Amino acid sequence: MLKNIPNENSAQGGSTSGGKFYITTPIYYANAKPHIGHAYTTVACDVLARFHKLQGEEVFLLTGTDEHGLKIQKKAEEAGIEPQKFVDEIAVNFENIWKNLDVKYDKFIRTTDENHKKVVQKVLQTLFDKGAIYKGEYEGLYCVDCEQFKNENELVDGKCSDHNKVPEMTNEECYLLKMKDKQIELIEKIKNDEFKIAPERYKNEILSFLEGQDLKDISISRKNVKWGIELPFDKTHTTYVWVDAFMNYLTGVGWDGNEENIPEKWPADVHLIGKDILRVHATIWPIMLLQLGIKFPKLLFTHGHILSDGKKMSKTIGNVIKIEEMIEKFGVDGTRYLLLSAGTFGEDVDVTMERLTEKYNAYLANGIGNLVSRVIKLGSEVEYKMNSVSIIPDFAKLIYSIEMGRALEYIWDKIREDNKYIEDNKPWELAKNNHEKFEEVMKKLLGDLDLISKLIVPFMPETSEKIKKALETKEAEPLFQRIK
Ligand code: MSP
Repeated sequence: MLKNIPNENSAQGGSTSGGKFYITTPIYYANAKPHIGHAYTTVACDVLARFHKLQGEEVFLLTGTDEHGLKIQKKAEEAGIEPQKFVDEIAVNFENIWKNLDVKYDKFIRTTDENHKKVVQKVLQTLFDKGAIYKGEYEGLYCVDCEQFKNENELVDGKCSDHNKVPEMTNEECYLLKMKDKQIELIEKIKNDEFKIAPERYKNEILSFLEGQDLKDISISRKNVKWGIELPFDKTHTTYVWVDAFMNYLTGVGWDGNEENIPEKWPADVHLIGKDILRVHATIWPIMLLQLGIKFPKLLFTHGHILSDGKKMSKTIGNVIKIEEMIEKFGVDGTRYLLLSAGTFGEDVDVTMERLTEKYNAYLANGIGNLVSRVIKLGSEVEYKMNSVSIIPDFAKLIYSIEMGRALEYIWDKIREDNKYIEDNKPWELAKNNHEKFEEVMKKLLGDLDLISKLIVPFMPETSEKIKKALETKEAEPLFQRIK
């Protein structure tokens, strides 16, 4: 349907037509149920995967859960159950919610999968044998909620700014991963886009961080965290969650840990992540790959956060918007639309249930819903051959650049124009007094509906099917009813 669209300026480097497309979500911590922040990333990945599949590419979408670490160990203890049982339940929650949101992933990886654990141990051994991991001591401030060490200068009033908590000072024997010896190489590869970070300002942010200081070697093991993967060369230690987690991007496509057997799907074409985990993805992960001699992922694309009523969602504030709540009120496609149209993808976006409801009524019930029902009703007598339109390069470019909000705006501009075109031309009057003009007006509108149904496929698959069916049968069931 869409071949050879020039996408040299897009976030996703090079031509992707006809090739393979391997995209990943972060693997989500199995410490609590999924919320709309997680859905934001996952639905965006699903849209990209569906779009690339429609272009004839061989697509693989990987998602999953990050199940080890202190945070989860503590949660399970609080709940009074074994950690494995605890994460089993949460993983099911994630799998179900993605199915409910019509996310078609190819594999759901769990870091407690036997194969994953085996490969992580193999990689740790390789890094140890190469001398990239060594025994030492680490003193640092650890934020359990981030599962990250923090620098003094990152703290606000001595607290982690993401979690508003004082991090714990830890000083323990541990194993460390060499970072500094790869720092210059990493900077070069980020600068020349061999490891592309987008949007641009996130690339600049990372470069100024990397150029501003010597990287400290990082602790990759903990002594008193039981719930983790044991280091093969020292069973009294378990590995740092992030080292375990990053490996999912390779074990998820079947890597066995042998350097000669890198899966064909690798390198990943896109790692899509939220800005909270940019730093670790742009330092620890690529340095692990450099130490192992494995190619970088092609693109690390970072999006902003969803805020609820101007604030980070939190149970204490009581502003958490649940995915189930959205699906119940707006339906699956309505939820997918409302999440991705919330604003510019790279920046933070703010939502409230009230504003989402207003938007649903304006853009879905009145916008697309009204257009479809009017055009199908008025055009029932007009001959129209389906599939006579193809996707527009300008729109495709927006998706190749991962501009989710702008891609949707592009479609809704068309919807708005068409609704206005109906008001201006009053086809119901033309039907009585100017049949030729009536046919012309309706053919344009039917053609536009045909196009709209194609443009929305990756975003709203079910709605797209309904519009296609309406065009074929000339009968329209209401797509989105007005709600309160
Ligand atoms: N387990 C790590 C990731 C390891 S990847 C190798 C982790 N998990 S998480 O459960 O905390 O998920 C973080 C990701 O969820 C973010 O990067 C983002 O993709 C998504 N979101 C979580 N909250 C969010 C918002 N409020 N808004 C948008 N997305 C956010 O970090």
